Amino acid sequence: MRINKHNAGLPASYLFAEIARRVAAYKAAHPEADVISLGIGDVTRPLSPAVLGALHTAVDDMGRAETFHGYGPEQGYAFLREAVAEHDYRSRGVDISPDDIFISDGAKSDLGNFQELFAPDSVIAVADPVYPVYVDSNAMGGRAGQWTGAVWDKVVYLPCTAENGFAPELPLRVPEVIYLCSPNNPTGSTLSREQLAAWVAYAREHQAVILYDSAYEAYISDPDLPHSIYEIEGAREVAVEFRSFSKTAGFTGLRCAYAVIPREVRGTVAEGALYSLRDLWLRRQTTKYNGCPYIVQKAAAAVYTPEGREETRALVRGYMDNATAMRAALALMGLRASGGENAPYIWVGTPRGASSWDFFQLLLEKAHLVCTPGAGFGPSGEGYVRLTSFGDPLRTLEAMDRMRSVL
Ligand code: MLT
Repeated sequence: MRINKHNAGLPASYLFAEIARRVAAYKAAHPEADVISLGIGDVTRPLSPAVLGALHTAVDDMGRAETFHGYGPEQGYAFLREAVAEHDYRSRGVDISPDDIFISDGAKSDLGNFQELFAPDSVIAVADPVYPVYVDSNAMGGRAGQWTGAVWDKVVYLPCTAENGFAPELPLRVPEVIYLCSPNNPTGSTLSREQLAAWVAYAREHQAVILYDSAYEAYISDPDLPHSIYEIEGAREVAVEFRSFSKTAGFTGLRCAYAVIPREVRGTVAEGALYSLRDLWLRRQTTKYNGCPYIVQKAAAAVYTPEGREETRALVRGYMDNATAMRAALALMGLRASGGENAPYIWVGTPRGASSWDFFQLLLEKAHLVCTPGAGFGPSGEGYVRLTSFGDPLRTLEAMDRMRSVL
């Protein structure tokens, strides 16, 4: 049997799997170590009462013939798509039709799968550092070329450095598919309205598509920052947006997200005919996906009730209080840190020019603290580590104390 050579060409493991492996090995060798993780961006607070109540009710629905639900619509139940359109878009002055919203089990799977719609030789552009799913999934699709040990030779990398405020700049080589993430994972930076407008204008000029990951939009507190790319005029024809309930409402274990694909976003084949990405995605989902569970969609809809909205805001505030405390502690340690103001991630320059992985190892061994090495997100992440603010408040403060004592 022959396999897809692009899978064979991947580096051995996915970033967070590699970190989990190293941490598990360390814990096995040091069972007494009390390890605190500020590594993978996983939430720690329980589901809010409104969400939990809806979940219980939906579970009971499944136990009665009159309210039982079998296969749901592949695109998601109308009750949730309508709530999303109303509360996440119309209330912000953006007109998005529930028909163009696709509910799923996660933004990671949506972002990983969406590349299937593009030609196998499409050029993709990513910010560097970058959430690894965009790059690895395109590598599996054969679009990334060869792994050189540091980069993929066909990917257009857009370096995000302290000098450019960690904002990707327009590329010289024109891509067809552009991945943008704001608030950014991993740097915690955000794109201003003007920066986003420049990208939309660029995509329109070059007939490119922007895949806009706004999984962390709930963490924006600056009223001038856009929450959705559709707040920018002209974006409807060139942008697909991905959002998630994971970080907004604590759904990392429950799994629910959505993609917005306005009908106007079109791609072409060599012969020149135009196809709506929305219709192609519907075709793909109806073939390969049977939809997010009813009970989970009911729980997600509860996020939009008055209580759900208040409780969700409190969850986010709690994590951002951690971020504020961490930023203060990192400043006292004399470390260069950014992010953590409109995003749950803090991007920290390593001390004394240490490499990302060396600093990761030092923190693990000497402070029993897990971070994410910046180099794992791309070459421009070298010399940085990422800390998340999703921890328990007291453990987060303890993590900062341990870090200070190691430095
Ligand atoms: C991360 O740590 O970057 C996140 O957990 C990524 C994700 O949501 O998959």
